[in-house]
Amino acid sequence: MSSSDKKIITIVGSGLIGRSWAMVFASGGYTVKIYDNQPGQAAKAITEIRKQLGELEEAHMLRGELNTAQQLALLSSHEDLAQALEGAFFIQECVFEELEAKRSVFQSIEGLVGKDVILSSSTSCLLPSNVFSRVQNRSRCIISHPVNPPYYVKLVELVPHPETEATVMDITYALMTQVGQVPVRLKKEIDGFALNRVQYAIIAESWRLVQDGVISVKDIDLVMSEGLGMRYAFIGPMETMHLNAPEGLEDYLKRYREGMKRVLTGFGPVPDFSGEAAKSITEEMSELIPSNQQHLSARRERRDQLLMGLAKLKQQH
Ligand SMILES: NC(=O)c1ccc[n+]([C@@H]2O[C@H](COP(=O)([O-])OP(=O)(O)OC[C@H]3O[C@@H](n4cnc5c(N)ncnc54)[C@H](O)[C@@H]3O)[C@@H](O)[C@H]2O)c1
Ligand SMILES: *[C@@H]1O[C@H](CO)[C@@H](O)[C@H](O)[C@H]1NC(C)=O
Repeated sequence: MSSSDKKIITIVGSGLIGRSWAMVFASGGYTVKIYDNQPGQAAKAITEIRKQLGELEEAHMLRGELNTAQQLALLSSHEDLAQALEGAFFIQECVFEELEAKRSVFQSIEGLVGKDVILSSSTSCLLPSNVFSRVQNRSRCIISHPVNPPYYVKLVELVPHPETEATVMDITYALMTQVGQVPVRLKKEIDGFALNRVQYAIIAESWRLVQDGVISVKDIDLVMSEGLGMRYAFIGPMETMHLNAPEGLEDYLKRYREGMKRVLTGFGPVPDFSGEAAKSITEEMSELIPSNQQHLSARRERRDQLLMGLAKLKQQH
């Protein structure tokens, strides 16, 4: 039995991401208390998790050392915030992506927990200095930004508030590693964090290439899925450069520096993602995958199946 057996984590907000975090932490042997301010929602979350854990077990994709029943036994739902927070050393907030909602939730939480409890937010786009502005002791605050679905896509961006203590970052990093996620540390806060900044750079250039009539929607997606994406599931852009020249990165820069700068200088302005271009790109996309629930759900299912397979493959390497 590991030392985590008695350790408690509270999830505040039990939507898509709150449920995923609960599964991840339970897989690591943590006791997880789930709170939602919608009556009945936290209990519903546990029903949904039970179903998902059953499916995962069947697919031999259940994470952690514990079986489904043992993991389920670690979960409880709570209608009262104070009760949900009792005994927890780590709080993962997963409420709506609205600044005011997050600010007031953290204000309430701080009033109910001890001084050493870590306050962590799942926000995708809000900055720590905004989210935690009403917390008195901000040295214990951090953002732990997951990627959807966290059960297969394990990256967690850890983003500190300017006042976050180094030990809070270290404890969060260790926790994420222990439950099988892959944390990365941002050294300071920045709009979009790292993942969305890189993602938006890719989206923007893909958009410009289609808008400028260089390539079709279908083919730019193939550039990623059959080209860059093949490598990027295993090695990042830095290692890619390092491996792509006989003598490594320095050699790569010697060979390709000028070419990279020339191409990058030719990039167009930030697209406005609206108007005629948006209309025609949306139409082109809808011809490939109609924008109705039936087709979208089928493609989402396919995506999640493929991610499951990729996660399995990555486990072996
Ligand atoms: N969905 C994603 O792909 C994704 C990925 C990474 C991060 N996130 C972030 O995770 C957070 C949650 O997103 P989601 O997709 O799970 O949203 P969601 O709408 O599925 O769930 C939000 C839940 O929070 C509850 N809630 C709202 N206000 C609350 C309050 N004051 N106290 C307690 N519970 C409250 C709601 O009842 C709901 O159950 C957001 O900040 C989002 O940006 C989402
Ligand atoms: C602030 O939070 C840090 C980190 O959890 C903790 O060590 C410290 O004691 C807290 N300070 C006060 C005044 O509560």
